[in-house]
Amino acid sequence: MTYIIAIDGPSGSGKSTVSKILADKLNIEYLNTGLMYRAVTKLFLDMGLDEGTDEAILKDLLNKITIEFRENKLFLNGIDVTKDLRNDEVTANVSWVSARDYVRAKMVDLQRKIAENTSFILDGRDIGSVVFPNAKYKFYLTASALTRAKRRYDQGESELSIEEIEKAIIKRDDYDSNRKVSPLKVAKGAIVIDSSNLNIDQTVSKILSYMEKKDVL
Ligand code: DC
Repeated sequence: MTYIIAIDGPSGSGKSTVSKILADKLNIEYLNTGLMYRAVTKLFLDMGLDEGTDEAILKDLLNKITIEFRENKLFLNGIDVTKDLRNDEVTANVSWVSARDYVRAKMVDLQRKIAENTSFILDGRDIGSVVFPNAKYKFYLTASALTRAKRRYDQGESELSIEEIEKAIIKRDDYDSNRKVSPLKVAKGAIVIDSSNLNIDQTVSKILSYMEKKDVL
């Protein structure tokens, strides 16, 4: 029997690090859905498009897009763009891109296809609420904005200070939580874990212990 683990939560809550470790430990596949929205954003930016661009142009481009994962790398229209998806420009624009219903419809469809018939852990914002509402395991990882800003800063992929990252995180949380389509929220049946005072190993252990409990019941 295959199963799905949904890990949702705001940016910097440790979702991707924790998910990677869990996937290794459980010997299942991992999909970082945030990277997919980042890839679409990169494509729009590369074409010189922005929030004010005519929807028909954005939709046309989206129709032609291909996103594939191979060996933990994301290929956008056949090209490995993994290293270019976390820069400040993509990060500053990904919220408006991921708030568009036609972008989400295409990504959700792709996510369901990728994780079909295989045990998968997916991280994102709407995995437990929209993509796989029947997932066997659902978690919502969170942490204070400052903790999350420090973690992003330590990743070394931003040119901004901790304070600037914290401000950007609060702004993005607000946007992601209040958008009309699939807002960031705790999915029905999800277990909330606040990792502000937990390290990665403790967070992973907590998740595994909830999973064990569920299997016993
Ligand atoms: O997890 P991340 O910070 O790389 O995600 C980037 C953006 O993509 C984030 O601002 C919200 C959006 N996103 C989303 O709307 N739905 C998902 N399933 C994953 C990410």
